[in-house]
Amino acid sequence: MSEIAQFRHDCDALEITWADGSACRLPALWLRDHCRGPECRDPVSGQRLVNITDIPADVAIGRAEFDGAGLIVEFAPDGHRSQFDPDWIFRNAPPASAPPGDRSAAGKTLWRGGDFAGALPRAGYAQFAAGGTALRDALAAVRDYGFVLLDDVPRRPGQVLDVIGRFGYVRETNYGTLFEVRTRVDANNLAYTNRGLGCHLDNPYRDPVPGVQLLHCLESTTEGGESILQDGFLAAQLLRDENDAHFRLLADTWIDFRFVDADADLRARAPLIEIDDRGDIVKIRYNNRSIDTLRLPPVRLAEFYPAYRHFAEILERESLQLEFRLEPGQLLLFDNTRVLHARRAYSAAGARHLQGAYSDLDGLYSTLYRLEAGG
Ligand code: OGA
Ligand code: ZN
Repeated sequence: MSEIAQFRHDCDALEITWADGSACRLPALWLRDHCRGPECRDPVSGQRLVNITDIPADVAIGRAEFDGAGLIVEFAPDGHRSQFDPDWIFRNAPPASAPPGDRSAAGKTLWRGGDFAGALPRAGYAQFAAGGTALRDALAAVRDYGFVLLDDVPRRPGQVLDVIGRFGYVRETNYGTLFEVRTRVDANNLAYTNRGLGCHLDNPYRDPVPGVQLLHCLESTTEGGESILQDGFLAAQLLRDENDAHFRLLADTWIDFRFVDADADLRARAPLIEIDDRGDIVKIRYNNRSIDTLRLPPVRLAEFYPAYRHFAEILERESLQLEFRLEPGQLLLFDNTRVLHARRAYSAAGARHLQGAYSDLDGLYSTLYRLEAGG
């Protein structure tokens, strides 16, 4: 219980000093907009019943008192009364500056390949599938590091979809509910050949991009085919540190991404690096195979190319890269808005078969929040 040491108000705002010495200022309109009474919020769903235009534009605090159970506020000019739980106010009062979003680089642990010293974020699939703390920790690793490696995932075709069912929802695409990553003739995507793939994020040509990707290894007896991961948020941060103008250009320049085959023509327009209102990095879209014709004025192109090259050079630094071999029965689960993946070329002899699928970050975070809340 957060104790109120002192409170005072004028018509514009209410100021509270808490027993721990901290203080907050609650503007009248904010208080009214956050009224949790039955006229303002549906008691069952908790959803808001009033629109901002239903609140008098000149709303003011008429009276305020603390009656032991809660804070009672009477608003002018309409006399609306609200009761606020001090704990709720303590946790939710307007902060001095906007806090970082849970998708942004600000709250995450940025990494280079060597940082893990062989100890990757990982979980056994039986524990992951049982839920509870193992699932919570694995999903927290996706939030904090952008990936987790699952071991002992049954080598059953379609298993990747069951894995998604443990934390979220399958994102079906033109490749199907899942896609087969193995060499095939007339491949509509370089992923389905034995060529190496440079570091990339999948599907920047979708709107929205699938936020979660899974790659499940069913078979791997070829020479080569090693996997590489790297932290795109760290790479973007390095770009900003090394040349702020380059960083800004990539954040400010919207370019076209496209995928075309016999059945699909997918297009999206977005920047290579997306930042939020705090300037924090929130999303990377980088895939040299999927950038469409650059329709930028020549002057802009002359600025864009050096910035794009600089970012690509950072992404080629081996010190950033984490390389390992994905073995049969292992599954990589990663944030496709942050962690880039790559693959070394592999031999024609032998067989390599992965099944991949997509999901979205909101479902994954939802499961994580509930587990963290003890639910
Ligand atoms: C993909 C991909 C990597 C691999 O299918 O998107 O990048 O290891 N595959 O085959
Ligand atoms: Zn890929």
